[in-house]
Amino acid sequence: MPRKFFVGGNFKMNGVADSLSSIVANLNAAQVDPNTEVVIAPPSLYLLLVRQLADPKFAVSAQNVFDKPNGAFTGEVSVEQLRDAKIDWTIVGHSERRTILKEDDDFVARKTKAAIEGGLNVILCIGESLEDREADKTLDVVTRQLNAVAGVLSKEQWAKVVIAYEPIWAIGTGKVATTQQAQEVHATIRKWLADKISPEASDNTRVIYGGSVSEKNCRDLAKEPDVDGFLVGGASLKPAFVDIINSNI
Ligand code: PGA
Repeated sequence: MPRKFFVGGNFKMNGVADSLSSIVANLNAAQVDPNTEVVIAPPSLYLLLVRQLADPKFAVSAQNVFDKPNGAFTGEVSVEQLRDAKIDWTIVGHSERRTILKEDDDFVARKTKAAIEGGLNVILCIGESLEDREADKTLDVVTRQLNAVAGVLSKEQWAKVVIAYEPIWAIGTGKVATTQQAQEVHATIRKWLADKISPEASDNTRVIYGGSVSEKNCRDLAKEPDVDGFLVGGASLKPAFVDIINSNI
């Protein structure tokens, strides 16, 4: 079974009810590749609205979730609450949360585990800073981030994970990774899956790229053998998102 192409739209902290409704209406009306799995992640306040408006063929994802089931955790959203709202996915470990909100590898790992055990699928974000890349530490950093998650998940639970490789220097900067840079890291992740998890996890886990993906660069990236789709920020708010969804046709 080939890996199903996967495109996620991370709206981040953008949009209000009106603008998000029209983004979803455009998406509902678009011709999208039926062989691509599409998941959109609106701000948490609008998860219910977007789930209600989006065509059922589109999955809806939270941008974050907490690792505890319930209780005195002001401002957080639980796995159970997401499931109750018919949300099937969550992003975990986005670099904006790792850097701005100071989430560390262990916290990201605990959230990944809680999400999967509660029945969610996870888009697990990993990626190096510019400083790491310039110091030739890219592969060490992504392996360290993955090892933390491997420490808490069973081998079978990897079936619920999509790994998003997102170099921090490429996010929101317009400076996309080259096809070679993406393929090199994706191939390393696939080898890590084979060595640390299982041959099945290596064959079946989607490894998607994120960081300044646009309608202009998506087709070349999609041709790389280990690029199984994209996590799209800025461009997911625009009509160009449909071209990115269809980049694998
Ligand atoms: P970008 O964001 O496409 O705006 O670079 C990607 C992401 O952060 O997921």
